[in-house]
Amino acid sequence: MNHKPIIAANWKMYKTPQEGQEFAAGLVERTPNLQGVEFILAPSATALTSVHAALEGSSVGLAGQNMYHAKEGAFTGENSAAMLQASGCEWVLIGHSERRHVFNEPNEDLRKKVAAALEAGLKVILCIGEKLEQREAGDTKAVIEAQLKNDLADVNRFDPDKIMIAYEPVWAIGTGVVATPEQAGEAHADVRTVLSGLFDAEVAAAVRILYGGSVKSANAKELILTQGIDGFLIGGASLILDEYCKIAEIAQMEASQ
Ligand code: PGA
Repeated sequence: MNHKPIIAANWKMYKTPQEGQEFAAGLVERTPNLQGVEFILAPSATALTSVHAALEGSSVGLAGQNMYHAKEGAFTGENSAAMLQASGCEWVLIGHSERRHVFNEPNEDLRKKVAAALEAGLKVILCIGEKLEQREAGDTKAVIEAQLKNDLADVNRFDPDKIMIAYEPVWAIGTGVVATPEQAGEAHADVRTVLSGLFDAEVAAAVRILYGGSVKSANAKELILTQGIDGFLIGGASLILDEYCKIAEIAQMEASQ
């Protein structure tokens, strides 16, 4: 692994501004012992500014969980890239499985969101992954390929410092069923193959690919040791500071071996 492992937290619809701020302050206190990993927190939109304030002066990154592609307008309930940036975000998650499958986000929107985020200067964590029936039908690679092709269609130059991929098999998210290191490693290799075709071999080698789906301290070691896994996007286990930091410690220790 050329980079520090990325330990990203997706808090989904959990934590008030106050709860987020307390977690972030606690994390900042612990970061001196966790310099070997890169942290990114993705709180809900309402907690961004309080978490940002608590992270001030630290190296912990801040991400929005979603955004809309328009710059502004009559889009009730949505936030623009500029709004996320003004709330302290450097990153945004796009295409999380809950956005795709619970809220039925259209492919067209996903593609526009990626382009709009990059144009505004936000860095993107693009989430992709197959459903259980797609895996069982042997379609995992085809699904990954179709998602990457669609979502990155308006990206002319893929800058690996500005776009990360999170491979999150839908069947592993929030289920307690984690992908095996073999399954995750194979999917990550597929992502690199697809990106090599869409862009070039340098992009495929340099892109950081996170694994997400029921990551916890009990399974972090074997996953982070898997070839091609550059870090984690963690939901449930990221809500508890001790558990989140334990995963970071494991990643830090294994990356330094
Ligand atoms: P989980 O969620 O860790 O709770 O499975 C991961 C995600 O949705 O990013």
